[in-house]
Amino acid sequence: MTDLPATLYDRVHAAAQLVRERSDFVPQVGLILGSGLGAFADSLENQVAIEYGDIPGFPRSHVQGHKGRLVLGQKQGACCVAMQGRVHMYEGHTAATVAFPARVLVALGVKVLIITNAAGGLNPTWAPGTLMLIRDHLDLLRDHALRGPNDDRLGPRFPDMTTAYAPELRTLVKGVAAERGIALQEGVYVAMPGPCYETPAEVKMLQGLGADATGMSTVPEVCVARHMGARVIGISCITNQAAGITGNALSHDEVTETATRVRATFEGLLDGILGALVAKGELR
Ligand code: HPA
Repeated sequence: MTDLPATLYDRVHAAAQLVRERSDFVPQVGLILGSGLGAFADSLENQVAIEYGDIPGFPRSHVQGHKGRLVLGQKQGACCVAMQGRVHMYEGHTAATVAFPARVLVALGVKVLIITNAAGGLNPTWAPGTLMLIRDHLDLLRDHALRGPNDDRLGPRFPDMTTAYAPELRTLVKGVAAERGIALQEGVYVAMPGPCYETPAEVKMLQGLGADATGMSTVPEVCVARHMGARVIGISCITNQAAGITGNALSHDEVTETATRVRATFEGLLDGILGALVAKGELR
């Protein structure tokens, strides 16, 4: 293993450089694909895939069902780079490490980052399989991706989060869902450290805080994307009702089963979003 550069800025650009050596493709859209959705990357046209292990500084994912590849290719006229698999803080990584690949995507040229995840539903009226557009988030992780010295070449010390999930892109996504007849809720995602699912008491607390869906990912990547000036779309697949709502025990199998069940609908929504981003000139 070669030594990594000392500064985050140089590490990000060294990783981006490796990707550029493998493909001269300049991606406009980044996709971080959550549990059960990784296969979307296989549908990219003219694709070039790069194993995470080949990219300097990239963390490796170990969770069952998550591959570890970056896939570049086109879809619906959009030049995309998709992360097939991601790491989570509960695996022992810092928030900065979890978010490192998202920085590389933005350094490669990504203007819009689409982040998907599996989440537990806090709203008791939402059945498993519901898709939720993220309007805003609560960060209850115990580390922050931007903690530590700031490099102004990457972004500002104190990024604004007023419109972390770009309002105009949320309007676009809702339009696509309506056109395609896809039911889409909108709400607040809360990031929890995991790896235990929440207790019923925590679920009550999170409901009281105004969250609609709870998960163990996404927020570190959103923070670095905003830091570097990319716009973000976040979509959760509600794979289960959060702990205590039904009284049944939660399991990772239920999460992956639901994600697999709604995969075709979720992929249809992603296709529509990519087409609309191109058609509306949002990627220039
Ligand atoms: N809680 C936290 N993360 C999750 C859940 C949940 O209920 N379901 C899928 N990811």
